[in-house]
Amino acid sequence: MHKVRIVQKVRLAPVRERLRAIEDAGYNTFLLRTRDIFLDMLTDSGTNAMTDRQQAAMLMADDAYAGSESFYRLLDSVREVLGYQYLLPAHQGRAAEHLLAKTFVKPGHVIPMNYHFTTTKAHFNLAGGTVLELYAPEALNTQSSHPFKGNMDLGRLEAAIREAGPANVSFVRMEATTNLIGGQPFSLENLRQVKALIEPLGIFLVVDASLISENAYFIRQREPGYADKSVAQIVREIMDVADLCYLSGRKSCMVRGGLIATNRTDLHDAIRPWLPVYEGFFTYGGMSSKEIEAMAVGIREMTELEVAGSSADAIQYFVNLLLAKDVPVVTPPGGLACHLDAMRFIDHVPQTEYPAAALVAAVYLTSGIRGMERGTMSMDRDSEGNDVPSDLELVRLAVPRRVFTMSHYQYAADRLRWLYEHRKMIGGVEFYEEPPVLRFFAGRMRPKYDWATPLVEAFEKDFGTEM
Ligand SMILES: Cc1ncc(COP(=O)(O)O)c(C=O)c1O
Repeated sequence: MHKVRIVQKVRLAPVRERLRAIEDAGYNTFLLRTRDIFLDMLTDSGTNAMTDRQQAAMLMADDAYAGSESFYRLLDSVREVLGYQYLLPAHQGRAAEHLLAKTFVKPGHVIPMNYHFTTTKAHFNLAGGTVLELYAPEALNTQSSHPFKGNMDLGRLEAAIREAGPANVSFVRMEATTNLIGGQPFSLENLRQVKALIEPLGIFLVVDASLISENAYFIRQREPGYADKSVAQIVREIMDVADLCYLSGRKSCMVRGGLIATNRTDLHDAIRPWLPVYEGFFTYGGMSSKEIEAMAVGIREMTELEVAGSSADAIQYFVNLLLAKDVPVVTPPGGLACHLDAMRFIDHVPQTEYPAAALVAAVYLTSGIRGMERGTMSMDRDSEGNDVPSDLELVRLAVPRRVFTMSHYQYAADRLRWLYEHRKMIGGVEFYEEPPVLRFFAGRMRPKYDWATPLVEAFEKDFGTEM
């Protein structure tokens, strides 16, 4: 329910140029330049198409260091949409995580969650905490029709709290559409059960609401009793159950920035002193006032049904195209991307050779599409320096909201089918430069043997040298 009014030119660099580009980038798609990318499906984070209303609001930005009217407009939106009275702005999602870690995570603490996110885990670990992922077995089944693979396993939660002792639990975190296992939602029933379990123990519930509108959209579609409720009502119900939420504004809100919001005075008062230390003054928190204005609009717009479903519906279309071509993808379709299952796509490449990292490079080589590795490369080593094998090896082909058209997904599906037919040509990769934290951002890799050149030659045989 929108039309395109501004476009950005893209270029399809020929396959030999792509080979040079991925070599220069150390086989890490994060290190590619966009001039070498045809369709950028790295992330849905900050890459969404804004609305005319968001752009217009940016012109009204009040750049005052303190007391900016832009902040109060965002506060009004947060109160209306999330139902929370207190707002602490932050420059992006991980900054909110840093503030939570600084305030509540103490050495020896555990933080139960439905699944970790990379930046979340990094901050909580740096503060001395241990992340516990308490998902149900179905969460890791990539060929599932389970509607809520983001649910927490209540039995495991109860056991984990008993073992750690409630005083050593910083809080429980539920991530709306668990990013790393395919953008899978939790149900409101599960969220309520989690809350009922932890509230009597004095443990509070945090929702990572970065993809809250998509999670609410799935609840409306998949959870009995919610079909007639609006996305706005469901978002409010989630927030009524949670004690505090934080978010990266780059996703559902379609802007850059982040925030923490709550009705709990004690939680707010504990975090607030750190805001000017790490982020900025209370009324901007490291965001530009233009972003604050755009967020004030985006947070309201995300509750419109067509907006909440804009990426979810496109992902479903994309996933179904690939399923029809027998290309292994994660099901059911989730909330931020179409995910290729690398362990099934290239089952001849062992996990020690980073199959998802190899596959994402091969996807770029044969299509010009940039995806993101979400597997062992995205896991940092343990304290002994050993690789930590990831639960899943996924290639994330993110679907930024309102950016691509159906023909883009058709192109992608066509090239991915070709690659699947030539999958045996893909080999493993190894690190030759490896940073100690969040290594997937800047690490450099190379093929274990030269499998890229023969793959490019096979591609040229079928498509010529210009594609
Ligand atoms: C679920 C989730 N939480 C937190 C973050 C971190 O947010 P940011 O990238 O704005 O720092 C992300 C980013 O992708 C995310 O997907």
